Amino acid sequence: MDINSEILQLNWKREPYGLYEPIEYTLAAGGKRVRPQLAMIACELFGGKAEEIAPAAMALEVFHNFTLLHDDVMDHAEVRRGRPTVHVKWNENTAILSGDQMLIEAYKLLSGVPADKLPTILQLFNKMATEICEGQQYDVDFESQAHVTIEEYLKMIRLKTAVLLATALKMGSYIADASAEQQDMLYEFGIHIGLAFQIQDDILDVWGNPETFGKAVGGDISCNKKTFVALTAMQLADSATRKELEQWFSQTLLDNTEKIAAVKVLYEQVGTRTKCEEAVEQHTTQALHLLKLLPQNQATEHLRQLANKLNTRNS
Ligand code: IPE
Ligand code: IPE
Ligand code: MG
Ligand code: MG
Ligand code: MG
Repeated sequence: MDINSEILQLNWKREPYGLYEPIEYTLAAGGKRVRPQLAMIACELFGGKAEEIAPAAMALEVFHNFTLLHDDVMDHAEVRRGRPTVHVKWNENTAILSGDQMLIEAYKLLSGVPADKLPTILQLFNKMATEICEGQQYDVDFESQAHVTIEEYLKMIRLKTAVLLATALKMGSYIADASAEQQDMLYEFGIHIGLAFQIQDDILDVWGNPETFGKAVGGDISCNKKTFVALTAMQLADSATRKELEQWFSQTLLDNTEKIAAVKVLYEQVGTRTKCEEAVEQHTTQALHLLKLLPQNQATEHLRQLANKLNTRNS
């Protein structure tokens, strides 16, 4: 089953257009579709039926896109997937309300899983959704917090990013009747690829090619985000450079061009990039170790390839 075309076939031609058009606009813009793919592959790994996980896979993608509408308001992001974000193309009210509707649509899709499996699927989904809100709150709190530890950062990205990938995998394996132990192992695999995924996202936010990345490079620096890149630079820097970084990160500016360029120079001076790429590598390696403990078939190989691909992605 081609889950991407299933998502593109969802019909949003409905009134009021002001509510549904932004949903169509968002879902038509593509994206990597990582989360639904993970759910589908996990189900296949344990011999489950694609049509039983498909509603949940689609729900996860619609939910992910909902979080992006609100995230782009929170992060003042003007470009996503190479196009203006919803709050820029329409306005903030639209991003809030179309986002809310996408959350509801996600639940409607979710209810299409086999009835006997729905209570557990709902429980997994709700736990994940709450954790994402918690992670997003920490992410915003850290903007105005001068000192954030790597440990606090890892907790934050586990919540805002990794649990969604992990839950997609767990749902797929649950639908396919994998054992509780296997479901948990796949969940942990998802956590590690999720951590690697967000660290890679943080790297791309500084060094990505705007054309392939599809988002504004330097956005995290503008918002004073305590990303893995920022925290690693602080760790590597001598006290004078650290002071300079702290100085930049205590400012909120209207024009961030100079700040982005200056912070990038400081990052590069202390060798930040290599250290961050090593961290992505480490979490991917940890993930791949866990995969070895699961049944080995085409789906496991597919997960292995996906983990490696995400690791070196440029979008
Ligand atoms: C963006 O997710 C949000 C993060 C967790 C970094 P993706 O990088 O999966 O975005 P799309 O869906 O492919 O555009
Ligand atoms: C995304 O984190 C996490 C969620 C949307 C829940 P980011 O804010 O880094 O994602 P991008 O870079 O805007 O895609
Ligand atoms: Mg963002
Ligand atoms: Mg964000
Ligand atoms: Mg980002």
